[in-house]
Amino acid sequence: MTGVNGVIVSADRITRIFPMPAGPVVAVRDVTLQVAPGEHIAIRGPSGCGKSTLLHMLGCVDAPSSGSLVFEGRDIAALDDRARSLLRLRHIGFVFQRFFLLPMLTAAENVELPQAEAGVPARERRRRSLELLEYVGLGARADHRPSQLSGGEMQRVAIARALANRPRLLLADEPTGELDQATGEQVAALLDRVNADGTALVIVTHDPALAGRAGRVLTMRDGRIEGEVRQ
Ligand SMILES: Nc1ncnc2c1ncn2[C@@H]1O[C@H](COP(=O)(O)OP(=O)(O)O)[C@@H](O)[C@H]1O
Ligand SMILES: [Mg+2]
Repeated sequence: MTGVNGVIVSADRITRIFPMPAGPVVAVRDVTLQVAPGEHIAIRGPSGCGKSTLLHMLGCVDAPSSGSLVFEGRDIAALDDRARSLLRLRHIGFVFQRFFLLPMLTAAENVELPQAEAGVPARERRRRSLELLEYVGLGARADHRPSQLSGGEMQRVAIARALANRPRLLLADEPTGELDQATGEQVAALLDRVNADGTALVIVTHDPALAGRAGRVLTMRDGRIEGEVRQ
């Protein structure tokens, strides 16, 4: 399902305030942003400027304190926790700097997990997991556990897992932050391919090479988007 105007997610003047004992922290201020199908957006900016908080709201993990967020036509504020997590499971993939694979599961089982949560039958999810591991170049590593994989391989498994339920939007928070340059390049090339194959990407990154691949680069400072370059 697509929202009005074909937009995947539309944030209108969203603000996120964390109430803290020493006083409220305004992590994101008054951000307006739309992500269209197939877009490739990079978000840059200094540490603490609100990038992760914004990404979490775009991914419906966290809700704005004020402003409106509409995902595929649904007003997020109107959904309860269960409806929000179902929406995430079906429509959004996440990739993190530290991979967050489950250590006791094999690569294939890690990719199966979100499909199991979505109710995909065992045989079908096994088939899909192997297909996705082939797609990320790790068909031969399906039975390896994370401790038996390199950092770049773990991130490729994490990307396969994020794609398991065919999301239209993939969000990545510093996906090359833990990788050396050559391995980071491989992950960047894979993310490009994911985008070319039709998934919209929003990538938070400090890596100029990774940001350079996006169609739109947003720069944040102090919770706001202060610049936007289309390239
Ligand atoms: N859960 C939280 N509780 C309180 N403050 C938070 C929380 N998450 C982030 N912050 C604060 O919000 C600001 C933005 O954080 P974050 O979005 O993580 O920035 P970035 O990802 O750009 O480094 C920071 O000042 C951070 O300390
Ligand atoms: Mg961050």
